[in-house]
Amino acid sequence: MPDATALSVDRINVFYDDFHALWDISLEVGRGEIVSIIGSNGSGKSTLLNAIAGQLIPRSGAISYFGETISGLPPHETVARGMALVPEGRRVFPRLTVFENLFMGSYTHKARKNREQSLENIYELFPRLEERRNQMADTLSGGEQQMLAIGRALMSEPKVLLCDEISLGLAPIVIKGIYQKIKQINEMGLTIILVEQDITRSLKAADRAYVMLEGKVVLTGKPSDLTEARVKEAYFGI
Ligand SMILES: Nc1ncnc2c1ncn2[C@@H]1O[C@H](COP(=O)(O)OP(=O)(O)OP(=O)(O)O)[C@@H](O)[C@H]1O
Ligand SMILES: [Mg+2]
Repeated sequence: MPDATALSVDRINVFYDDFHALWDISLEVGRGEIVSIIGSNGSGKSTLLNAIAGQLIPRSGAISYFGETISGLPPHETVARGMALVPEGRRVFPRLTVFENLFMGSYTHKARKNREQSLENIYELFPRLEERRNQMADTLSGGEQQMLAIGRALMSEPKVLLCDEISLGLAPIVIKGIYQKIKQINEMGLTIILVEQDITRSLKAADRAYVMLEGKVVLTGKPSDLTEARVKEAYFGI
């Protein structure tokens, strides 16, 4: 069913020099799905997202995106095809304003043409960003910076949004708000991959989840089929 598949990762292996970080990882993401990748520190979640986004090149295996092989393509090519990464640690440009940060997200040819409309959509989704559009990014609260990082990724008009630990370091109430936005973004038609350490939140938000441990996928399924106890066992490798 190639039409229903947004992303397919087929037995990739990723190395940092001699260090074998991802072992035969396979993953399928259906169009319109929210898929969570759960795992503790160092389990390889960011490595996997960065490989999908083209920032790391797998030594073996293949990644395809809407039926087209993309492994080996540089990041700007994956962005041009509609993939956007919200990186771990937000990484907004601190001394640029909210507006300038968003503007930087629309650098592809297609996104440049639709910049005004995208900006309007993002301000509608995150009214707080519109209110603060002339404020320097480093003066925003943590939650606002996370909204900005998501907004900047959306400026490239992605079909698939890759989010790396968007709740890290935020208060529970702020996290709840961000997750409501993720749901809204999904309802707008985007496919979403969420990397998280928080098991409960991940299972709640996702249609399907993958649990990683030491660079391997150790458990996968629908949240309704994965009890928290089983996920915890897999997560901690016990
Ligand atoms: N640039 C790098 N060079 C060498 N090793 C790296 C590099 N980046 C990550 N690693 C190693 O690869 C493994 C997986 O790291 P990764 O950042 O993907 O984990 P993670 O699941 O995202 O962890 P966290 O939850 O802490 O963000 C770790 O053992 C880490 O030390
Ligand atoms: Mg990480």
